[in-house]
Amino acid sequence: MNVLIVGSGAREHALTWKALQSPLTSAVYCAPGNAATAAIAVNSGLQATDVVGIARFVAEREIGLTVIGPEAAVAAGVADRLIADGRLVFGPTAAAGRIESSKAFAKSLMARAGVPTPAHHVFDDPARAKDFVRGERRPFVVKADGLAKGKGTLVPRDADETLECIDTLMLRKTVGAAADRIVLEEKIDGREVSLMALVDGDRVVPLPPACDYKRALDGDKGPNTGGMGGYSPVGFFGPEEIDRAVTAVLKPVVQRLRDEGTPYYGCLYAGLMVGPSGVQALEFNARFGDPEAQVVLPRLSGDVVPWLEATARGALGEINPSWSGRSTVGVVLASRGYPGTYQTGYPVEGLGTLEPDVFAFHAATTAGPAGYLTAGGRVLTLVALGDSIGEARERAYRNVDRIRFQGMTYRHDLALREIEAPVLP
Ligand SMILES: Nc1ncnc2c1ncn2[C@@H]1O[C@H](COP(=O)(O)OP(=O)(O)OP(=O)(O)O)[C@@H](O)[C@H]1O
Ligand SMILES: [Mg+2]
Repeated sequence: MNVLIVGSGAREHALTWKALQSPLTSAVYCAPGNAATAAIAVNSGLQATDVVGIARFVAEREIGLTVIGPEAAVAAGVADRLIADGRLVFGPTAAAGRIESSKAFAKSLMARAGVPTPAHHVFDDPARAKDFVRGERRPFVVKADGLAKGKGTLVPRDADETLECIDTLMLRKTVGAAADRIVLEEKIDGREVSLMALVDGDRVVPLPPACDYKRALDGDKGPNTGGMGGYSPVGFFGPEEIDRAVTAVLKPVVQRLRDEGTPYYGCLYAGLMVGPSGVQALEFNARFGDPEAQVVLPRLSGDVVPWLEATARGALGEINPSWSGRSTVGVVLASRGYPGTYQTGYPVEGLGTLEPDVFAFHAATTAGPAGYLTAGGRVLTLVALGDSIGEARERAYRNVDRIRFQGMTYRHDLALREIEAPVLP
């Protein structure tokens, strides 16, 4: 079977790498892919949101399964078009994908489904939003309704900062029209975990949980980023916690989406906060996480292609995904200045010297005359497998030391809390 991976980041490099291991796969194409996928698969030259181009390519190349990586492709309606053409696609329709592309929709869906989530209020008018906060005199998390590449959620410390955050999003328009509508959400405390699941319209099959690190600097300092790394499994989120979250959070929204005529197919990602009062859902993403995919896919011990295909077919009942007992730690190597301004075009050295069980999933590189050059803020995710989180962490950082490029920065404290202060389930 020919497989098409839609997207161009480290997540899509990891999906391409995993799909190529399947005996069911004849060729893997990417839309558009990146320099590293070009080395192992075939880049199509199509943009991820080029719905018409992708539909034509799928027909011409007899693609048996299309796997959608990024949220922009979900929102553009890539799945809608392929389904209309009678093609198999892993990824939700734009309507089901509103669970990510509209925070207000996600919150009201959760309310209709009875899912535990912090209380919220929706505003289209900044003056009204600010009046509300002045009346309440406490901080609220401020979230742009629409897609904002991870820059749409601001977490203020007090009411005054909340007012500033509203101005930033709605008046200074830092994420554009995505914040024409905002959600103000109760601020809650706890430990965060990402739980991704395969969803076939009806059934929910959880994947191993992961933790990601959003802030740019050690100790969770600095601005939010697309993600600076992560690890899996998660000590405080074992099989019982997974079961409970599937029952309390994932299944109710999946059932609700089906009952409302917009069934969900693909990977559903729940961003959860685990606190004293149990698990609360902070958000959903309509896709694999990045960097979560990079740390979770290497832990799946079977062939993922049948699982993706069964998800798309609505046949997950026939599938029982198996995870390896091993652990992963993934470190994002970024260009100095990211998520602000940074320079690119520097040679990436040392990629050929990595140990076994270590993978470099490229996010933004180009092929230069003598190897890869940096081409973005997040350059690659270096992922190491180990028999424990401690071993995976040691191996990851040992191999980070083998890679060099000008301005290379990364977080040094990833997964440290799992080792220094593990909280067992
Ligand atoms: N109600 C809340 N209380 C406390 N912190 C929150 C709350 N909601 C969100 N956060 C923090 O803000 C971060 C981003 O929020 P959220 O996941 O809603 O935004 P996002 O931009 O969709 O993120 P992503 O890029 O992961 O999709 C969360 O990971 C969490 O750390
Ligand atoms: Mg999100």
